[in-house]
Amino acid sequence: MTCTIHLPDYPVLLGPLSETLPAWLQQKKYSRIFVIADANALAHWNNTALLPGTEMYVVPCPPASEHAGGAERLKNLDTCALIWNAMQQARLDRQALVVNLGGGVVGDMGGFCAATFKRGVDFIQIPTTLLAMTDAAIGGKLGIDFNGIKNALGVFRNPQAVFADPVFLETLPARELRSGFAEVIKHALIGDYELWEKIQKTTPEALSPGSMTADAWTEILEPSIAVKAQIVTLDPHEHGIRALLNFGHTVGHAVESYFLETDEPLTHGEAVAIGMVCEGLLSTETETILRIFGRRPMPESIFPKLWERMQHDKKNTSGAVRIAVPGTEPFSLQILELSREEAFRRLKLYDSFDSFEF
Ligand SMILES: NC(=O)c1ccc[n+]([C@@H]2O[C@H](COP(=O)([O-])OP(=O)(O)OC[C@H]3O[C@@H](n4cnc5c(N)ncnc54)[C@H](O)[C@@H]3O)[C@@H](O)[C@H]2O)c1
Repeated sequence: MTCTIHLPDYPVLLGPLSETLPAWLQQKKYSRIFVIADANALAHWNNTALLPGTEMYVVPCPPASEHAGGAERLKNLDTCALIWNAMQQARLDRQALVVNLGGGVVGDMGGFCAATFKRGVDFIQIPTTLLAMTDAAIGGKLGIDFNGIKNALGVFRNPQAVFADPVFLETLPARELRSGFAEVIKHALIGDYELWEKIQKTTPEALSPGSMTADAWTEILEPSIAVKAQIVTLDPHEHGIRALLNFGHTVGHAVESYFLETDEPLTHGEAVAIGMVCEGLLSTETETILRIFGRRPMPESIFPKLWERMQHDKKNTSGAVRIAVPGTEPFSLQILELSREEAFRRLKLYDSFDSFEF
């Protein structure tokens, strides 16, 4: 099954790469093709068949199961220098095409390298994680971490196309699948109630590698990508409604950065799931989210540290912590101010829910 979601500047082609990529390339005239690939995404990639004669730089990302967020440590200027060097060695000119094959780390960093090489060469995104397919590859935000600050350097620049092939999800560990699923849940809650109905029927077991067919994934990916596509089309540079994509992320980022410093870090999606429960506080949604994600115990002693981190959120103005939550209609945004007391009340409520702990 293949389908296309059209954004104003580029298409998202969903389906087997062998059916989408060669046909798209045939209409283009690139001088050279250069692939930047995540080492763990190569199992389903046949360079010779899909893009004969191309050069490749493989980013040595640690396998997903080894350490949550392990590849993030490579999303920096040092790796960019290696990539730019390989691009120069391959003698890429401005008529070249860069192909980013990997999760959000390779997509953000490879796109940034392409957007800055010789003042910008065309690039396409081939996302290979659920999070990258439904979220990171769409919307033109590119960048790297710098001095310990996530996404501190970057640009907005759209790809020429995005190719999402669910076959890559077959090798993605369950924890990464679940992590990406948090963004699918977020997209459903902010813009697509039909998708939400489908999600409510999803069992945690379905989110293990190989349990869902490519067609079943396509049925979830298409509406989820469409929500992200609609929002970034309405607000490409994050001046208004795009804040809705931040639902669950104010609390989520605080929780993610706190647990990153412990022996048991959380994935981004696990933290966002906690964030959506605390920020949304709606009973049916909470039940579904906890059924899929379980509950991470959060003792009251860590609340002040989480509050401190929430204060660094980019939506804040003059010291108040602001959260972006869905309004009553699809694609409607509410910005709420969160006091310290209210934040603590919500975290305490989360910790009191009856669900299995992870
Ligand atoms: N640009 C945006 O709008 C945007 C939005 C959301 C997130 N992001 C960024 O995305 C990044 C997170 O992305 P992610 O969750 O994809 O993480 P990731 O890129 O680190 O990938 C997760 C892990 O899965 C491995 N992997 C990738 N594809 C695989 C496959 N098919 N099979 C097996 N393993 C595979 C990777 O090597 C890595 O170990 C963060 O850096 C975040 O800042 C960007």
